[in-house]
Amino acid sequence: VILLKLDPADRTPMFRQIVEQVRGLIDRESLRPGQAMPATRRLAEDLGVHRTTVYKAYEELWALGYLESTPGSYTRVRWRPRPEAATERQNRPAPAWGELSSPASRNVHGLFQRYRPESSPGRPADIIDLSRLDMDPRLFPAEQFRRCLNKAMRRWGPELLGYGERQGFRPLREYLAQRLQMHGIAAGPEEILITNGSQNALDLVFRLLVAPGRRVLVESPTYAAMIPLLRLHQAEITGIPMTGEGLDLQALERELRQGEGTFLYTMPNFQNPTGITTGQAHREALLRVCERFSLTIVEDGFEEEMKYCGKVTLPIKSMDCHQQVIYLGTFSKVLFPGVRIGWIVAHRDCIERLLGIKRFCDLTTTPVLQAAMYEFCREGYYDWHIRRMHRTYRKRLQTTLRAMRQHLPRERADWTEPVGGYLLWVRLRDPELTAEAFQERLARCGVVVSPGEYYFPDRSQAIHFRISISMLDEAQIEEGIRRLGRALQDSGGPGGGER
Ligand SMILES: Cc1ncc(COP(=O)(O)O)c(C=O)c1O
Repeated sequence: VILLKLDPADRTPMFRQIVEQVRGLIDRESLRPGQAMPATRRLAEDLGVHRTTVYKAYEELWALGYLESTPGSYTRVRWRPRPEAATERQNRPAPAWGELSSPASRNVHGLFQRYRPESSPGRPADIIDLSRLDMDPRLFPAEQFRRCLNKAMRRWGPELLGYGERQGFRPLREYLAQRLQMHGIAAGPEEILITNGSQNALDLVFRLLVAPGRRVLVESPTYAAMIPLLRLHQAEITGIPMTGEGLDLQALERELRQGEGTFLYTMPNFQNPTGITTGQAHREALLRVCERFSLTIVEDGFEEEMKYCGKVTLPIKSMDCHQQVIYLGTFSKVLFPGVRIGWIVAHRDCIERLLGIKRFCDLTTTPVLQAAMYEFCREGYYDWHIRRMHRTYRKRLQTTLRAMRQHLPRERADWTEPVGGYLLWVRLRDPELTAEAFQERLARCGVVVSPGEYYFPDRSQAIHFRISISMLDEAQIEEGIRRLGRALQDSGGPGGGER
């Protein structure tokens, strides 16, 4: 006999009430594996319901794996694994995922473990974090974007709930084509592929061009998350040193004379991590070298819109007469990264091949968000937001540079002075100071920066670190730099470096 109590006043159908109650009894082990269930006729009589109601409930429980039945026998409770607590699951023997993983992904896992310390839990709340290149949520135009989401759904509705156009929402591609013209890039919607942010774009480009052992040239230092991604693709990475004016062109030529490269990855604006922006002459000379050696350029224009001091320099792609530049853009670093929308601009054949890869890797980029983003841009909110970002960050950068001049002793450190974006690169001049000792001083002073070693494809000699002002307001920046100054002056002895 099993005790069930059905409630006719409940709007839940009777058969569903039976299912839920029997499930509960089995989960709590009041009904045990192997135990026979009452015959459908008997239970129907006990409960005062039609036999088909009980029959339907048993069928559902069978489909859910709670019951089993063999012809000519009772329906019985089926043995099923008991849901375990997380700790129990963790302690059970499991496949050796490390051994099962490919060597390339094992390598990436190692880098991932090393790459996380700044976000470690248990960090004091009053710490000032100058490490993260995340956007400041206080500046997100969330309400405007919500309205655009509604508008897009009203306007296109069901069309946005399918997979959408493989290459990306056409009106957005048309808008981007127009906007690219402002940056001197001539490209039609057919030469643009919308991606899930520019990180997805990088992965697609690597899938297209990299094969194990192929040589890829990167700036040294370079964007940290590029290095594990290239390792995952088993590229051979060659770092070309950065000078104050950008990539060292002579070193690039020397490398290319020694052996060919698959492509060069470069960030001409506000380079991550150094913040350096190259001039027109450097861009032209770089393109000439790459033309001479038929080297493809992957130009990451991740902060193209964030030039807020001085004159704008056009992207390398704007001078690309031989279609050898693959240009990447994103909304992440001027608007917000949560919508995950980026784009690739390249020769049509290249776009088509990338589209083929995307088609099998992640199918498409969310149509609803692309349409909302299109509305956002069409309504003029994007232009409005860019102007606001320029005003805000011009002030934040001025505050940063002023605070650095005031608090950082020049004999102990020098740094880059960017003309936009969010990043500054600091080099320590104290030959005695190790990276570990400096990290300890920073922790004592309550400030976090991003260690320079993340950004070099091979280990750096001098001590560098990256500062990002993207998340902090002027008061936080001022305080963060003051603490940094203290960490630089800190002798490391007892009592040194109070908060
Ligand atoms: C240089 C650079 N490129 C690309 C990305 C990836 O941006 P997203 O995928 O959000 O567009 C980042 C993110 O920090 C970056 O710094």
